[in-house]
Amino acid sequence: MKISIYGTGYVGLIAGVCFANIGHKILCYDVDQERINNLKLGKSVLYEQDFDKLLANALEKDNIYFTTNIEAAACFSNIHMMCVGTPSLNDGSANLTYLFSAVENLVFHSTEPTLIIIKSTVPVGTSILISNKVKELLLERKEIVSIDVVSCPEFLAQGEAVHNFMHPNRIIIGSDNLLAFEKVREIYEPIVRSQKGEAPPVLCMSPSSAELSKYASNLFLACKISFMNELSRIAEFTGANITEVINGMVSDKRIGPAMSHPGCGFGGSCFPKDLKALIHQSEINNYTPQLLHAVLDVNINQKKYFIERVFSLFNFDVKNKTIAIWGLAFKPNTDDLRESISCELVEELLVGGAIVQAYDPVAGNNAKKKFQSFKNFIICKSKEEALDKADLLAVMTEWPEFFCIDTELLKHSMNSPILFDGRNMYDPQEIKKSGVSYFAVGIGYIPANSPETLSNDN
Ligand code: UDX
Repeated sequence: MKISIYGTGYVGLIAGVCFANIGHKILCYDVDQERINNLKLGKSVLYEQDFDKLLANALEKDNIYFTTNIEAAACFSNIHMMCVGTPSLNDGSANLTYLFSAVENLVFHSTEPTLIIIKSTVPVGTSILISNKVKELLLERKEIVSIDVVSCPEFLAQGEAVHNFMHPNRIIIGSDNLLAFEKVREIYEPIVRSQKGEAPPVLCMSPSSAELSKYASNLFLACKISFMNELSRIAEFTGANITEVINGMVSDKRIGPAMSHPGCGFGGSCFPKDLKALIHQSEINNYTPQLLHAVLDVNINQKKYFIERVFSLFNFDVKNKTIAIWGLAFKPNTDDLRESISCELVEELLVGGAIVQAYDPVAGNNAKKKFQSFKNFIICKSKEEALDKADLLAVMTEWPEFFCIDTELLKHSMNSPILFDGRNMYDPQEIKKSGVSYFAVGIGYIPANSPETLSNDN
């Protein structure tokens, strides 16, 4: 099948290369000329496992093309997938400018029956708004052509996007039109049939239900993380150990271990943005979503708390202190810095006059650009280099290479061996025994060789 894809961000590109690899013919459109030029040459524009390989393969098989010409995209096929960004505006609402602009341009050139599939995460009711807009535009053009609008939200997570796309948990198709539903189901048919285990369900529902399902899934996961983070604060002042508590919970199959790791808060391009968007949509409809507010507030407080604990160690004066940072990306296996808690900490440290020595396996270049105005920001080539004469080490992203920690090196290289664990990655007892001071949410601060530590050891 021939499909035009609008937007070459995470969702558009992953969908494009994955569909091209299962045999569809894809044309990806974007306004960003440099990005399109790079993609045409098979150059990597995002860090994602298997992506480069799949892009090269799709180009070689002549299954994927790239363009900045919207007319070419409109004429390439009669299936059009909208994957443009919907970033947060100041009031928390989703910015739909790019989506409407792509649809308007597409309709302007449409002369044949057309299917518009909305993959971008959009406020509930957007498919209906788009549908009405399409009718209005066709009326203006005095064009009689059938254009259907379907919602088909994407559930991929960065760092595992290709795998998520090729092995979906479910496919949701929001449409009131059976023919349109069948067309989208047909696009996914090879993916559904290729699953070795149970095939994922293909769920047909109304466009608004599909749009709300996307928010509901993301926000439920965000809620689970905020719940664990709130518990971690309670564990700290009650003397419970959060890791033990969570282990006690997640062995209940109804709860499960996924998305239950406490830490310095969640970031990324989805959870914070989607929370704000659904809160905004509720409030303009005179409903106060108390739980969603709480999920967002707990997250804001969690990162504030972690950052404050770092600063409190220096009596809130970090000037000329050297801080080592391991991990800058908002999660492992991506170079994405959007809503990264690590970057928030780094920025506060830099503004406070600290010298930041940071290391990230892949996000270093992006961070260099982000903090280019700060002379006191140093990107290091290795996690070991970042430790040199540091007064504190904060581990902010759970990259696999950080799980292996040489506490002897910490003691040898740092001015003072203090470890702040933003992702609850280490065994506090082991770190304590090694003579390194340790802090993690839900565990609290354990100074090395404190009397309490010694008596606990005995
Ligand atoms: C999320 C959803 O998982 C995905 O289904 C949806 O399509 C897009 O939004 P993503 O933002 O890429 O994906 O990453 P995810 O793995 O969900 O992590 C989001 C944030 O939560 C990260 O900052 C991560 O560090 C944090 N997190 C995750 C926790 O703090 N604890 C956890 O247990 C899991």
